[in-house]
Amino acid sequence: MNIYHDSRHDDAARRSQLYDGSVYVYSPTPATLKFCEFTRELVEEAFRPHDPRKVQNDIPVEKCVEILSTLKPHFIHHRRSKELIQDILLERGCDLEKTYFDVPRLRTAFPADYLSSGIAYAFHPHRDTWYSAPFSQINWWMPVYGVCPENIMAFHPRHWTEPVKNSSSDYNYYEWNRTSRLNAAQNVKEDKRIQPKAQVPVEMEPQFRIVTEAGGMMLFSAAHLHSTVPNTSGLTRYSIDFRTVHLDDVWQKCGAPNIDSACTGTTMKDYLRGTDFTHLPDDAVALYFDGTESEFTASPSSVQTART
Ligand SMILES: [Fe+2]
Repeated sequence: MNIYHDSRHDDAARRSQLYDGSVYVYSPTPATLKFCEFTRELVEEAFRPHDPRKVQNDIPVEKCVEILSTLKPHFIHHRRSKELIQDILLERGCDLEKTYFDVPRLRTAFPADYLSSGIAYAFHPHRDTWYSAPFSQINWWMPVYGVCPENIMAFHPRHWTEPVKNSSSDYNYYEWNRTSRLNAAQNVKEDKRIQPKAQVPVEMEPQFRIVTEAGGMMLFSAAHLHSTVPNTSGLTRYSIDFRTVHLDDVWQKCGAPNIDSACTGTTMKDYLRGTDFTHLPDDAVALYFDGTESEFTASPSSVQTART
């Protein structure tokens, strides 16, 4: 497992390394900085006249949730967000014909005693593959403002090869779409949504945190165990993340090893082609069906994507 900084690896070599647990970190680029600038404009407009990084000092949490409930979907489904992802993928040497991405998420990590559930969920240690992501999924993550070790995310590298007893077998992606995600804004004080979690105390150490400038980008496998760091910095963290899969790897069903994920359903219908935002071919998606797809419910994000 290595950390590559500003690597010149091509996309195929990078994917191969990512599937082995390596993490790639890139300095800010024109496209990532543009995305940060666009996001900051939306965030600052939404919270005006307050400083978005200190908003926890200025407004009641209920008001904050109300603002986020409008801001986050607006960001996710904004056409400009998708166009900026295209630019980032091109800068990073991805083939847009074969690279599919899902809509970007805007994450907020408030100081923990203010808001850490529902729409600003502070993620416990998890793998995205516990949430029905395919093993070829790559996560892209970048901060929108400057960050410090006390308000970012952490990797727990020993669990790349060490399984964690978890409840992912109770998780079905379609069921989750049907019941939980639409209700995220209602979970203000406490999160009642059933999420796949470790069923034993997780060894959080050793851990590493990668601190970049705003617009610095981190790529890592969806199979990595990672968590939200309890925010003790006094400043709210705003970050963007999105996920990609490569068509060749989807067809070949290759990716990181599965050591402990047992969820059902698949997120394959969420990804959009880099060129024209169309979905993956039906027969490629069908390779990931497990019998629960008769209950299929599209994610709220992909439904809204199709409409805009
Ligand atoms: Fe995650």
